[in-house]
Order: sequence, then C-alpha cells, then structure tokens
Amino acid sequence: MALYDTRSGLVGEALHSQAKLHAAYGGVVPELASRDHVRRLLPLVRRALDQARRRVDEIGLVAFTQGPGLGGALLVGASVAAGIGLALGCPVAGIHHLEGHLLSPLLGEPRPAFPFVALLVSGGHTQLMRVDGIGRYALLGETLDDAAGEAFDKTATLLGLGYPGGPALARLAAGGHAARFHLPRPLIASGDLDFSFSGLKTAVLTLVRGLGEPDEATRADIAASFQAAIVEVLAAKCVRALEREGLDRLVVAGGVGANTALRARLEEEARARGSEVYFPPQRLCTDNGAMIAFAAALKQPEGLLPAEPGFTVHPRWDLARAAASAQSTPRR
Ligand code: KG4
Ligand code: ZN
Repeated sequence: MALYDTRSGLVGEALHSQAKLHAAYGGVVPELASRDHVRRLLPLVRRALDQARRRVDEIGLVAFTQGPGLGGALLVGASVAAGIGLALGCPVAGIHHLEGHLLSPLLGEPRPAFPFVALLVSGGHTQLMRVDGIGRYALLGETLDDAAGEAFDKTATLLGLGYPGGPALARLAAGGHAARFHLPRPLIASGDLDFSFSGLKTAVLTLVRGLGEPDEATRADIAASFQAAIVEVLAAKCVRALEREGLDRLVVAGGVGANTALRARLEEEARARGSEVYFPPQRLCTDNGAMIAFAAALKQPEGLLPAEPGFTVHPRWDLARAAASAQSTPRR
C-alpha cells in the first residue's frame, strides 16, 4: 500500500509481509493469503495515509494490482480499490504486476532514460524485455520452466532453509566457496535470450543426495555454487540482450534483483562494456504497493489507463500483449 504524489513523490508506504503466515507450510497457501488480505488491507490504507499526513479525500486516482497472481488475493485488492474509487468518485486503474516491477527503477536516482533492456526476476517470472517507453514493452526472452526466484526458493528448501528461501540462501552463500562444486549453466550458450532453471535445481538435488548429510560449511559451498551458476546465466543473457538490441542501459527489477551477488556481477559487466545498470531502491525490489501506485501515476498522463477498468482480475496475464492492446486503444 502506498501513496504517490505526482509533485512530491512517494509520501506514504505501508507493507505487511505474509511470509511468517505461510512459512509453516513451506509456501504460499492461497486461501490463507486472501483471508489475510481481507484483514490487512484497510488498516494498511490508514497507515499509509497517516504516514503521508493526507486525508482519504485527497486521493485522485486509485490503482490496484489486476494480475497476474492468485485470484482470491487479487479480488480482495480489486474490491477495496473499487470501493474507495466509488466512495471518492475518482478513477480506479488496474495495473499489471510486472509493469509495476518494470517501472520501479524509475523511482530511484539516477533515473534510467528510455529505451532500456529490463531483466525481470521474481518468484513467478524471469523475463528480458525491451522497454521503449511507458506502455511500450517487447518480450525478448523468458524462462522455459522455473523462474529464477523459484529456483532460489526450491534450492533453499533442498538445503533445509525456510520459506522464503531466496534471501536465506543468499545469506548462506555469502560464507561459502562458489568454486567448490561446478553446477550447470543452463542455456548459457543457446544463442537466444531464454532461460531454464529446473535442471539446475535437479543438479543440486543430485549433489545433496550424493553427499548424504552435508555439514554447514558444505551446504554454504553448495549455496554459493548454485548462486554463482544462476548469476552467471542471468548476467550472460543480459549482456546478450544489450548487444542484440544495441542498447547500453540495463534495468533490473523483481525480488531476485535484491540479490547482492547478482547486483555486483551486473555492475561489473556493465562497467566492462561502458553500459549503465539501474536497480530499484532495495526495499522496492520485492513486491510492494509503491510500484503499483507509481506505474499508474506514470501511465495516467500518457492516456494509458482504461477509462473503465471493470471489476475484473487476470490471474494469468501477458504484459507485452496487455501493453500492445492498451496502445492501440489509448483513451484520454
Ligand atoms: O518480486 P517478488 O517479491 O515476488 C514475486 O512477484 O514473485 O519476488 C520474490 C522472489 C522469491 O522467490 C524470493 O526468494 C526472491 O524473490 N528473493 C531473492 C532475494 N530476495 C528475494 N532471491 C535471491 N536473493 C535475494 N536476496
Ligand atoms: Zn513481484
């Protein structure tokens, strides 16, 4: 939940993480997620307003995540947004979750100029996109199976770490030796911009089984070797995407963008080729309301918000296709 002021920027932010709620089950339980959304949403709206010292009737546009995601949780957000919009008589805009991630680096300083290549790495998606402007996105490549964040989470589980596994695995990897185990770099030489991470997770599974009960130091080495493999593939494909598109600006977004090893490697690659790499502020890498409010604020003056979003959510939703259809019917 966040309040974005087109003059002063982000003025209120409130976040509730459901990580603890789901941790006992080792992953997200959809029904628990949507019930918790019902409980948390309005108090979060109040918290964001208090922090911003604004009144609810000062809101001029309400944005919500319209998809992709869990149907139940999306519907709770859509209902609250529609309710506030109706009460205030202001427009309500449904935003694509990945568009929020994609534009979030523009909340940081320095702000990347268009066009750029974006690497979107979250728990559900791994995509390379060419971004020519707000609402102008072309998919360059994506994962054929697991997402990068999913690979981190599943590997973390194999190493006995809790949910969500990405940050825990990164912490374990920090004390390990990445050169100890050589894990595959899937599709690194495929010549295209697609990814595949499920084989990497299987390689870790085979390795862990072969080692019996690996001790803490060995588990740290496995974590570091896994992280090195995934970082190398992501970095190689980013460089290939920049070369193929003839661009020299790279933007990284999504939860895995918080990974410090990935950040360091991409910065190194960018320096070597004289490119620039941009990340969202660290707290805005993982899911947050600020990126959704911000995306709506950027799209409104471009006439890219549908006049009537309707009360619909899209649990499965392709960003490049959604953006192309919005472009062909812009409304002001
Ligand atoms: O974007 P996000 O918050 O939610 C989705 O839209 O999926 O991304 C969550 C993903 C999880 O898989 C989580 O393990 C991963 O991002 N993640 C990380 C780190 N922080 C979050 N993966 C690796 N290193 C991190 N530091
Ligand atoms: Zn996300």
